[in-house]
Amino acid sequence: MQDLLTAPLIATIAETAKATAEQVSKLLGPPTKAGMADLALPCFALAKGAGCNPAELAGNIASALETTHPGIQAQAAGPFLNITLTPAAVAQAIITPCLENPQRPLRSQLGDGKTICVDFSSPNIAKHLAFHHIRSTMIGNALAHLYDAAGWNTVRINFLGDWGTAFGRLIAGWKRENYSLNDLNSAEDKVTFLNELYVRISQAAKADETVMDEARAWSKKLEDGDSEARELWQIFKDASLTEFNRVYDLVGVHFDSWKGEAYYEDKMQPLLDELEHSGLLSVSDDATVVDLSDVGLKKPCLIKRADGGTLYATRDLTACDDRFAEFNFDRSVYVVDLGQSLHFKEWYAVAKKLGRSYADNLRHVGFGIVLMWDEENEKWARVATRNGVPMLLTDVLNESIERARAIIEEKNPDLPEAEKESVAKAVGMGAVVFNDLKNGRTNDVKFKFEDALNMQGETGPYLQFAHARLCSIERKFTDLHSDAPAANTALLTRTEEKDVLLHISRLQAALERAVDEDEPSVLASGLLSLASTVSSWLTAGNTDRSARVLCEDAAVSSSRLQLVRITRATLGEGLRLLGLGAPERM
Ligand code: ARG
Repeated sequence: MQDLLTAPLIATIAETAKATAEQVSKLLGPPTKAGMADLALPCFALAKGAGCNPAELAGNIASALETTHPGIQAQAAGPFLNITLTPAAVAQAIITPCLENPQRPLRSQLGDGKTICVDFSSPNIAKHLAFHHIRSTMIGNALAHLYDAAGWNTVRINFLGDWGTAFGRLIAGWKRENYSLNDLNSAEDKVTFLNELYVRISQAAKADETVMDEARAWSKKLEDGDSEARELWQIFKDASLTEFNRVYDLVGVHFDSWKGEAYYEDKMQPLLDELEHSGLLSVSDDATVVDLSDVGLKKPCLIKRADGGTLYATRDLTACDDRFAEFNFDRSVYVVDLGQSLHFKEWYAVAKKLGRSYADNLRHVGFGIVLMWDEENEKWARVATRNGVPMLLTDVLNESIERARAIIEEKNPDLPEAEKESVAKAVGMGAVVFNDLKNGRTNDVKFKFEDALNMQGETGPYLQFAHARLCSIERKFTDLHSDAPAANTALLTRTEEKDVLLHISRLQAALERAVDEDEPSVLASGLLSLASTVSSWLTAGNTDRSARVLCEDAAVSSSRLQLVRITRATLGEGLRLLGLGAPERM
């Protein structure tokens, strides 16, 4: 692990072990059993290169470190090397670089300027963003931030689901019920209007074959570029986009590219020709497919429907070629629910068969479903509905904000009204977003307002509270000490202070692992651990006056305040990376 704490030690260890810095950094890290030491190095793998046995090597490195690095206690325990630093040495190693760049603990150069495309959110138009859309939207948003922080060049893509047979139905319904643009414009909620129309026409189509035929005819017209069909499609799309953007603004998510499925509709011919010439195509049940049985996939990848219309996989393949041409990506991730795993396996396999150079750099970042607590039936329900209508993302966010508002009203009634508003928004949304990110993404998420908003639990509000608590100490300090002496890292001698610093130093590895595994929960856990050390640190002052940040010794106080500032900045940046706000008061 190469981070603020280990970086200065790695050169000495590498030299003694006759190894490269990279080999050493892979092995050096926190000990497997907490509390034994601050860092540990298993010497097995390095011994051979050093020309001695692991225990001997551990001893040699221990004495080398002790002579070159003051403030270090290094000890061989058999084939392991245990390293313990004095609190002041830890403070020195972390604080100095943080003063130069407060974001340093949550930055890495691992990405080395490589380019990553993140395809996320990508909802289907003419429908609302339902609660479950939180997953792709906020996992994708967090990943984009994390890749950025780890030195990647990030492209955020919303691959709108704005094409397909659903639009044929919608147009058929619109014509059948004789609507005009005025009807849509005067609807209270345009997306609800379209959604209800879609439900009605789908039901009618089930009962009446002629309705189905109409829908098919409109689908075909749309594909053939009929002007009336295109115009209506554009109207539906604009109405949806207005609504989507309202929600994206609320959750603070933006995209660099909005090229959706429709964009690729007239750009698939080169790919279809290439597939044709490559001899990969065959016909199965009247559809044109690529057989994938040789790569262990039972079903073929569907390229063209029986009537010649193209399919989801064909559009994804075309879009991927386009992204590669435009961004020359080194990796491309698709943040889409696990239910679509097969779709991605299939078209990734076709890309590979076509010899695409990028084929091995495509990753499906899947995730589990959202379960919501059903108050009435007292159980976790898979499809969260209220009176049969799917729970909208904005409904959940608004309710969470309202509940947060009540909590703040109780905790901090003197906060100015406008601030209560903005804090409630940050806390209410933070609760929902963090609940979604804190567990491994492939697990299903259980959502219950009380749990997500619990200030004492492993929640977003808990992290936000730790951040606000640090901000409040900073404010008090400024009031108390107008001409405080300079801070001095040597005065940070308490175990609690060292513990906070050790946890800050580990966040860089958490960031790198989060990126490597496309797993925001790794950072979420790191931040929770940090917040809990902050809480122990600040609580120690309740029983021991001399442990307080604002203590009698002004020089000690200044030094502790410096640690407060660095910790606050780190927590704030961690929250931002995960997509949460960090209010200064709560
Ligand atoms: N629109 C699709 C859906 O809502 C998700 C698209 C995911 N991205 C992709 N490139 N296929 O199910």
